[in-house]
Amino acid sequence: MRVALIGFGNVGRAFARLLDRQRAQYPFPIVGIHTAHHGTVYDRKRLPVTPAFGEPAKSITEFLDRAHPDVAIEVTPLNPTDGEPAISHIRAAFARGIHVITANKGPIAHAYAALREEAKRAQVEFRFESTVMDGAPVFNLARNCLPGVRITGFTGVLNSTSKLVVAAMQRGLSMEEGIAEAQRLGVAEADASFDIDGWDSAAKAAALANVLMDASTRPQDVVRNGIGELTTEEAVRLAALGKTLMLVSRAERREDGSVSLRVSPEVMLATDMLATIQGTSNLLLFHTDLMGSVGTVSISPGVEQTAYGLFSDLVDIAKSV
Ligand SMILES: NC(=O)c1ccc[n+]([C@@H]2O[C@H](COP(=O)([O-])OP(=O)(O)OC[C@H]3O[C@@H](n4cnc5c(N)ncnc54)[C@H](OP(=O)(O)O)[C@@H]3O)[C@@H](O)[C@H]2O)c1
Repeated sequence: MRVALIGFGNVGRAFARLLDRQRAQYPFPIVGIHTAHHGTVYDRKRLPVTPAFGEPAKSITEFLDRAHPDVAIEVTPLNPTDGEPAISHIRAAFARGIHVITANKGPIAHAYAALREEAKRAQVEFRFESTVMDGAPVFNLARNCLPGVRITGFTGVLNSTSKLVVAAMQRGLSMEEGIAEAQRLGVAEADASFDIDGWDSAAKAAALANVLMDASTRPQDVVRNGIGELTTEEAVRLAALGKTLMLVSRAERREDGSVSLRVSPEVMLATDMLATIQGTSNLLLFHTDLMGSVGTVSISPGVEQTAYGLFSDLVDIAKSV
């Protein structure tokens, strides 16, 4: 499996390090890397973990044609508005018969159904385990471990920044101080309103619903309320009562078969199972017809776990082709 990376930031570099560490058992070479500002680099045999970038390819098509990989790994930044240019990158790879793995939830939240059909027509694999909950099995759990099961809904606490901000406010800090704390930890976006207003959770909920419940929805369709209204006074009052506030994502299949999606702050006891998921940890429960509620938890994941999600998809593709 020859691999090309589109994007070489935190995730792309962690993935290159992981692949290098696993090289003896999984000898998949990286043969090309394309970035926005650092340039492009190719090596027909294998690039080193820290490559020297050269002149940028003029376009994604030029890059893919010259790198000629079996698998393209799309790890450019999220564009929450329309998922571009990642969607075009993915289509360019499909058009060349190249399998695609992405950690970028934009394409899954905005164009999953179309991309799934295009991958099928091109007879290539399209995988995205790292888009929700880093490398923890979410999509692969549903695909590989729940045969015959219909997912009727899900409940998730999937946004780290909101958890860190509420916890800071419960200690008496302001929302701005809580956001600054999350930014220092490298968790919050530079524009933290994406997290605070629930857009990150909405994008994840749309991606999950599109894949797991065959919904055809976008982040804009999610009923969305963030935590922006929370005051320090209210947060401290809740703490004194042994309660907290969590930004929860919920999906439910309606009687007519459509899917309702909601992201909203919910007050709950601090001992509630959802409330015990703090910091960068995440929890997602699938509600199903045959298996009751079953889920996945990830404790304090980081970029190494996101890289692992890409790696697990790569190994799975290598096994299946
Ligand atoms: N960080 C995490 O823990 C995490 C977890 C789950 C999912 N994700 C997702 O993974 C993706 C990558 O995250 P990251 O943290 O690695 O981002 P990042 O550090 O900002 O890196 C993004 C990379 O993409 C490149 N790039 C930007 N626009 C491009 C374009 N049009 N064509 C080619 N390359 C382009 C950048 O190039 P330059 O460096 O030259 O500008 C950079 O190398 C995002 O979609 C993110 O949402 C991240």
